[in-house]
Amino acid sequence: MFRAFFFLFLFFLPITTAPLPSIGVTYSAATRHSPESITSALNLLNLKSLRLEQPDPSIIRSLLYTNITLFLTIPNYMVAPIAANRSIALTWLYTYVIPFHPRVKITTISVGNAFLDVYPRSISHLLTAISHVHLSLRDLGIRHIAVSTSFSFFTAISSPFPPSAAQFQDPPGVTLFAPLLQFLHDTNSSFLINLYPYNLYRLRPEIPLGTALFQNYPFNFRDDFTTGVRYRNLFDIMVDAVVSALAVAGYESIPVVVTETGWPSGSVAANEAEANLGYAEIYLRGLVKHVRSGMGTPLLKDGVREVFVYEMFDDEGAGRKWGVFYPNCTFKYRIDLSCSYASEINTALILFLLLLVWICRLSD
Ligand SMILES: *[C@@H]1O[C@H](CO)[C@@H](O)[C@H](O)[C@H]1NC(C)=O
Ligand SMILES: *[C@@H]1O[C@H](CO)[C@@H](O)[C@H](O)[C@H]1NC(C)=O
Ligand SMILES: *[C@@H]1O[C@H](CO)[C@@H](O)[C@H](O)[C@H]1NC(C)=O
Ligand SMILES: *[C@@H]1O[C@H](CO)[C@@H](O)[C@H](O)[C@H]1NC(C)=O
Repeated sequence: MFRAFFFLFLFFLPITTAPLPSIGVTYSAATRHSPESITSALNLLNLKSLRLEQPDPSIIRSLLYTNITLFLTIPNYMVAPIAANRSIALTWLYTYVIPFHPRVKITTISVGNAFLDVYPRSISHLLTAISHVHLSLRDLGIRHIAVSTSFSFFTAISSPFPPSAAQFQDPPGVTLFAPLLQFLHDTNSSFLINLYPYNLYRLRPEIPLGTALFQNYPFNFRDDFTTGVRYRNLFDIMVDAVVSALAVAGYESIPVVVTETGWPSGSVAANEAEANLGYAEIYLRGLVKHVRSGMGTPLLKDGVREVFVYEMFDDEGAGRKWGVFYPNCTFKYRIDLSCSYASEINTALILFLLLLVWICRLSD
């Protein structure tokens, strides 16, 4: 009898806890795929969330009435103009948001992506641009779209080892993080971070590869002696470094969204042997399993709010191949990103792939 209750309890447990982080995927305009191939790819992956690096009205339109949530990025080159002239923010919103809201579920607008890395000398414009976009949304009566900006991990965070000692590092001569975090707190927005265990592993070759790939081998761990936490994967180390930095700054309640993560399945560089299809599949499989487990990270019980896999299609012009699809729309892996894993390729999947290839051909 007790056992029955116990199992009943386990069964209902996930319903009573916080929602699992959602998994989405980034589409970067570099690959120039049609809106139809993008929505087909999302359906095939069974993902409900899309991040656009360079918004395109035809792609946004294709998401009308689909229930897919959309994350938009304002390109870096527009940050300084928007800071200088608020009506440019309004013009942008009239092109990419107003025609579709609320029939397309736009959740977040990131003002720039890794702006600090790309335009370090214009960093003083970033906060003004963010507030101009936020105020313009308010002027339009839109309150449910969060405004934030995404950072690359190595630029924003001092050091991930040990995670509990991590802090935000302001660019020289600029106070960026304190006012930004206050804004995110006041407006109920999330802290956005691009986080690649692949890059951390490449910087620190003494790290066991398995730690970067979510593989639980006995010697794959790093201890944080301050907190007494034993870390078994780099993803948790990096997320907890962000969580610690937020706590040190006094904003531990701001949710964290991983705007980019992934593992390249190939690289043109000769010294990147770890950029291969096998490791990329292991990373993605481990990431999805870890995020879906609901375990969170040692310092963040509910885990990050959302994770976007980078990226949907290989960019043929790029040195590294990040896509989960080949440019011809063929899926590279045998992973069900939505939740459980496909143990074998079934007929439905094959039919779907054929359909996808056909749609892709049609639209090229
Ligand atoms: C969208 O979600 C609503 C409510 O959950 C549901 O009724 C509707 O059928 C969904 N639409 C699609 C296209 O999935
Ligand atoms: C701001 O931009 C708008 C068009 O987007 C333009 O009409 C206006 O003159 C600009 N204002 C300033 C002060 O540059
Ligand atoms: C904050 O945002 C979350 C999700 O983005 C939402 O569920 C919650 O209601 C918001 N809270 C307030 C006070 O707006
Ligand atoms: C798509 O491209 C991949 C890699 O180049 C190749 O292995 C695969 O056979 C192609 N699929 C189709 C249907 O052309």
